[in-house]
Amino acid sequence: MRLSFSSVAAARLRVDTIIYFMFEDSDLFEAQRQQITEQFPGIDHVFTTGDFTGKKNTSLQAYNNDGNIRRIILRGLGESDNFSLHSIRMASATASKYLSNFKITSPAVHLGHLGDFSAAKIAQSIIEGMELSLYKFDTYFSDKDDKRFVLDKLTFFCDDKKWLSSAKEGAQIGIDVAGGVNEARDLGNAPANEIYPETLAKRAMQLGKEFGFKVTVLDKRKITNAKMAGLLAVNQGSVKPPTFIIMEYKGGKAGEKPVVLVGKGVTFDTGGISLKPGAGMSDMKTDMHGSATVIGTMRAVAAAKLPINLVGLVPATDNMPSGSAILPGDVITYSNGISVEIDNTDAEGRLILADALIYAAKYKPQAVIDLATLTGACMIALGHYTSGMMGTSRELLGRIGEAAKRTREHVCELPLHEEYEEQLKSNVADIVNVGGRPAGAITAGLFLKRFAGDLPWVHMDIAGTGILPKATALTPRGASGVGVRLLFDMLANWQS
Ligand code: BES
Ligand code: ZN
Ligand code: ZN
Repeated sequence: MRLSFSSVAAARLRVDTIIYFMFEDSDLFEAQRQQITEQFPGIDHVFTTGDFTGKKNTSLQAYNNDGNIRRIILRGLGESDNFSLHSIRMASATASKYLSNFKITSPAVHLGHLGDFSAAKIAQSIIEGMELSLYKFDTYFSDKDDKRFVLDKLTFFCDDKKWLSSAKEGAQIGIDVAGGVNEARDLGNAPANEIYPETLAKRAMQLGKEFGFKVTVLDKRKITNAKMAGLLAVNQGSVKPPTFIIMEYKGGKAGEKPVVLVGKGVTFDTGGISLKPGAGMSDMKTDMHGSATVIGTMRAVAAAKLPINLVGLVPATDNMPSGSAILPGDVITYSNGISVEIDNTDAEGRLILADALIYAAKYKPQAVIDLATLTGACMIALGHYTSGMMGTSRELLGRIGEAAKRTREHVCELPLHEEYEEQLKSNVADIVNVGGRPAGAITAGLFLKRFAGDLPWVHMDIAGTGILPKATALTPRGASGVGVRLLFDMLANWQS
């Protein structure tokens, strides 16, 4: 999407559609009404009839008879007291539904002074609302008429030149962030015959080149040499070789320790010998959403050139049953000496994340965050609108919590109390890979904690939030792209 910024009067803009966001408070509403009808006297009936009052979640499309501008889209923001950046994202998402219905590819949007937010934040939120809500996964449709609607050019306008110019940087950040989220959605939605460990690595390499981060891919031989026991074990039943993808972005000071992101890259989870039931199994093409989030975040952070050193690690494999697959009861030993009894081959995510957490320690990182569609238990506990988080660093949990509030990507902390560790005791090895039904999300977290050791670490379980059964205003069904906005926001605020 191209951006343009203009301070000419609304009626003289060379676009055919204008979007205004309006508050419901009577003084603010009246002031805006005056501003609009001065430019477009012909549409005053919209206000005199009382058909549009700025109420939250309402919108109205008015037709204008003279000049270039034929359509005026009004979108209500509700009372200014309850206003947040989320209100703008939502308002912008509904407005963009009009744009797509009427194939309006180059609209203008009024950049008002909304609440206490900066022009940059407002512009960023408007663009996020549009780009996120317009996403469709339509790669495989043959009907070209039904192709994804794409916004070609967006013009921000207002008469305050200073306000306009301070919006520029924020607007570009909106494009970078939405690009990262939609990248994660594309990767998550892609079927397993398109995205498997080698092609996932290839996409990461392409993005590294395009956006400016280094990508190193360990193949099966290197993974074997590095003794990544979990990744090799889970991959054992597959005809597709595993990969271990290392992404390094250096935007911070030389020598500054990085933040490390780890993403579960199970490109399809059949459950292995502990086979999953058939119904709904196709969702398990999205069992690499953790890795999609990490790759999408790398893209967004590099595109926006954030001043931070960031590493992304992705262990990638599918989980297949076959004559060579791991069996319940098998024992594997990790490079750090910890032995694990595999009681259930469907608890494969934690097995491959363990290798990545061991690897992460090499960086002596400031912080490590892993993301994984890890447990059905987390989805049952928190549903589709809140990710589970648990970890060893209060500071890092706090940073994620703050970013969650700002981005409205909800998180809820689950406790890693030591009493639950009992459930991971094995009769034959140091620990077992499943802790039974009670507190399934927590025992998965405790398993990972053994491998995170002393690192300042947080685990995010996105099993429920990564794969949506139905669309919401900003998110289509399927892969949601969860985590990219949250992590970007956290990293953009890292120094403060
Ligand atoms: N990928 C699944 C978890 C999952 C379930 C993600 C539903 C998204 C939606 C994971 O590998 C898994 O199978 N976990 C098991 C663990 C159990 C065997 C301890 C589960 O949650 O049932
Ligand atoms: Zn599984
Ligand atoms: Zn899985």
